[in-house]
Amino acid sequence: LSRRSFPAGFVFGTAASAYQVEGMALKDGRGPSIWDAFVKTPGEIANNATADVTVDEYHRYKEDVNIMKSMGFDAYRFSISWSRIFPTGTGKVNWKGVAYYNRLINYMLKIGITPYANLYHYDLPEALEVQYGGLLNRKVVEAFADYAEFCFKTFGDRVKNWMTFNEPRVVAALGYDDGNFAPGRCTKCTAGNSATEPYIVAHHLILSHASAVQRYRHKYQHIQKGKIGILLDFVWYEGLTNSTADQAAAQRSRDFHVGWFLHPIIYGEYPKSLQVIVKERLPKFTADEVHMVKGSIDYVGINQYTAYYVRDQQPNATTLPSYSSDWHAAPIYERDGVPIGPRANSDWLYIVPWGLYKAVTYVKEKYGNPTMFLSENGMDDPGNVTIAQGVHDTTRVAYYRSYITKLKEAIDDGANCIGYFAWSLLDNFEWKLGYTSRFGLVYVDFRTLRRYPKMSAYWFRDLVSSKN
Ligand code: GCO
Repeated sequence: LSRRSFPAGFVFGTAASAYQVEGMALKDGRGPSIWDAFVKTPGEIANNATADVTVDEYHRYKEDVNIMKSMGFDAYRFSISWSRIFPTGTGKVNWKGVAYYNRLINYMLKIGITPYANLYHYDLPEALEVQYGGLLNRKVVEAFADYAEFCFKTFGDRVKNWMTFNEPRVVAALGYDDGNFAPGRCTKCTAGNSATEPYIVAHHLILSHASAVQRYRHKYQHIQKGKIGILLDFVWYEGLTNSTADQAAAQRSRDFHVGWFLHPIIYGEYPKSLQVIVKERLPKFTADEVHMVKGSIDYVGINQYTAYYVRDQQPNATTLPSYSSDWHAAPIYERDGVPIGPRANSDWLYIVPWGLYKAVTYVKEKYGNPTMFLSENGMDDPGNVTIAQGVHDTTRVAYYRSYITKLKEAIDDGANCIGYFAWSLLDNFEWKLGYTSRFGLVYVDFRTLRRYPKMSAYWFRDLVSSKN
């Protein structure tokens, strides 16, 4: 495996998000986001951790960008915090926040790291949640497009790669079905309705995405000459058996997972299986909206970590309708007593490199081989590993070697994939797990905030600096 294994111009980078790495969460004028509110609920996050400080990239961005450079990476996929730019979501600008992103972007360009800017990574301004119910309210579409336009206007002379949303499925499903992510709504929680809210939120996310893309295309793209897309998480679902029922369940799972967003974006409508199962609970696109949504990407980012088997599971009389029960399918982690792959620290993450090949190939075949990039891939260790254990991450090296080999095979077989981003450069705030999970190529001592490159960082250095 070397640079030569990949097409000319193939980009290697790392990915991160604002709330997970910046710190200064409520400082320098930044307004709170729904995550700042969520982490304050006792019991939501391991050890009741917050990302008020996390790895302090707000101050240490030069050091972090220097590490990327020294490892030979080409690009950094970061996210902009909406409430750092507009503390209450709309209206008044926080110029200190604008200045921070200017410093970050300018420094990247100065030393030769290409910025890939994502506009939304789970962190809706809390003010919009309080004022009108946030993503549940159609008003969010215009608010997001205004914020996006401000970013195009302000940073687009230098940022040529834009992404609107990271993992809209996770936003809708974890925020409004199981309630594990902000704003923590679900039928089982204190507020929410899992039968309808995930679908309403997803619909508003798709419209917000498309409306931001429309603004970019109409007013900026021809001058700034950048590209814009969206980032989708894609667990590969493999039928547990060859039975028609299990194969159909696997297909439904792919529809309810990646198809929920990619199908409208490519074909202008929700997958048939969603239309048939969700019926009147599934919002509809008007003709104008179809026009705006269909084709609203220059590329798509695929976040790919894992794969599950899946078995048909038809509802019984007592099953309440909800996004997750609508799948009529159950994930299974082993077949004939053999696990689908070794488990990482996170309970959802099984190491299954062939799943990446299948996911990428599926997007190629089912969605007309759009320009895509692997926008996240990685695995975690437990948070309590020592520095000495942490930097000796042979399992992570094996993970990356095997997954990137599968990506190369998919590209050799025709997938139009132009880049790869590892999650993540640094150990950081891992949502529910707080600091009890480490995804970095670089170990962070969370007390001193010192950075210690792991073996996997050097493995990447050897791969990506193997010029030609
Ligand atoms: C995402 C992910 C990241 C996670 C990573 C490891 O949505 O892009 O949730 O933010 O940290 O996937 O779980």
